[in-house]
Amino acid sequence: MSAVESKFAPHDMEFRRLGPAGLKVSVFSLGGWLTYGGTQKGSIVKDCMQAAWDNGINFFDSAEVYSNGQCELEMGQALKELAWPRDEYVLSTKIFFGTGRKEPNTRGLSKKHIIEGLKSSLARLDTPYVDIVLAHRHDPNVPMKEIVEAFSQAIQMNLAYYWGTSEWSAAQIQEAMDIAEKYNLIGPIAEQPQYNAFHRERFESEYAPLYKRGYGTTIWSPLASGVLTGKYNDGIPEDSRFATNAKTFSNTIQGLQSEEGQAKIDKVRKMTTIAEKLGGSMAQLALAWAAKNPNVSTVILGATKPEQVHDNCKALQLLPKLTPEVMEEIEGILQNKPKASL
Ligand SMILES: NC(=O)c1ccc[n+]([C@@H]2O[C@H](COP(=O)([O-])OP(=O)(O)OC[C@H]3O[C@@H](n4cnc5c(N)ncnc54)[C@H](OP(=O)(O)O)[C@@H]3O)[C@@H](O)[C@H]2O)c1
Repeated sequence: MSAVESKFAPHDMEFRRLGPAGLKVSVFSLGGWLTYGGTQKGSIVKDCMQAAWDNGINFFDSAEVYSNGQCELEMGQALKELAWPRDEYVLSTKIFFGTGRKEPNTRGLSKKHIIEGLKSSLARLDTPYVDIVLAHRHDPNVPMKEIVEAFSQAIQMNLAYYWGTSEWSAAQIQEAMDIAEKYNLIGPIAEQPQYNAFHRERFESEYAPLYKRGYGTTIWSPLASGVLTGKYNDGIPEDSRFATNAKTFSNTIQGLQSEEGQAKIDKVRKMTTIAEKLGGSMAQLALAWAAKNPNVSTVILGATKPEQVHDNCKALQLLPKLTPEVMEEIEGILQNKPKASL
């Protein structure tokens, strides 16, 4: 009998390698931006994470800046209560923006903030290490060698196993990889970029050379904050993200009224008919569309309710239905394929 009782039943979840690493992440994962520690606190956080786990999700994402540290506190508390074996799940956090403090060394990518910021994140998460720590943005005020050295040091200190980037340019990522090779340091393994049916250029075009070097991706806002569910087709429902975070999304909300915004809503309506033909929802189609790209290692879901997690994981069943013909039909609606696309 095993000394550790496994609590994880991945069902039909697909697992992909995270870039060049041996680490395997579920193709859908769960993150806490604006939700955990923001609009959602207490048992609902645990319920959402449990729903993810029950669907075979093994990867959970946070950041020091999410709700100024409250997200890490909530997710850390939930993980403690859920008490899953630590070797069965993958946890990430991100360093750069700090937790809302204004002192010069409490944000950015200096060696000091990478190490001290990460230690503070770990204290909030109540864990000795994360599996992956990501640089939440590039920092032009720190020499790249210092950034690569600091993340290598964090790994040598057992504060993390791997490191990655988020919203860095392809050139910056290549520079970090090259410096790691030249100085025998530890290079980054994955980027966390925005990628969805309305936001494709950087992921499909600029990053193409990175995929040749085996770089992984953990993509965010796969539903464009909910626009790709169809929930904003006829205005802003009460209790939706654009209502509960109206200030953060004021430009996006205004943009939806513009000609360009209405054209997006029109595309969502047309894609919804494809989703229905395939026996799924618009949200599931948008998520399956993102996961269909082989350069996506994992699609990070956001969810305010466990039902959304259950619903969104059904995108797995749509994945095999996205034949070349269906993808062509979607392309015909989107009309936004980047030129130098893969
Ligand atoms: N690295 C970065 O810079 C960065 C930036 C942003 C996010 N991220 C990461 O990526 C994760 C996901 O991003 P995201 O939250 O923006 O993802 P998203 O999938 O675009 O939006 C998620 C939101 O859409 C709504 N929703 C989800 N499923 C739904 C469904 N089936 N039906 C109706 N509404 C639904 C929920 O909001 P409501 O219920 O409130 O409407 C949910 O919180 C974050 O949690 C974070 O971990 C990273």
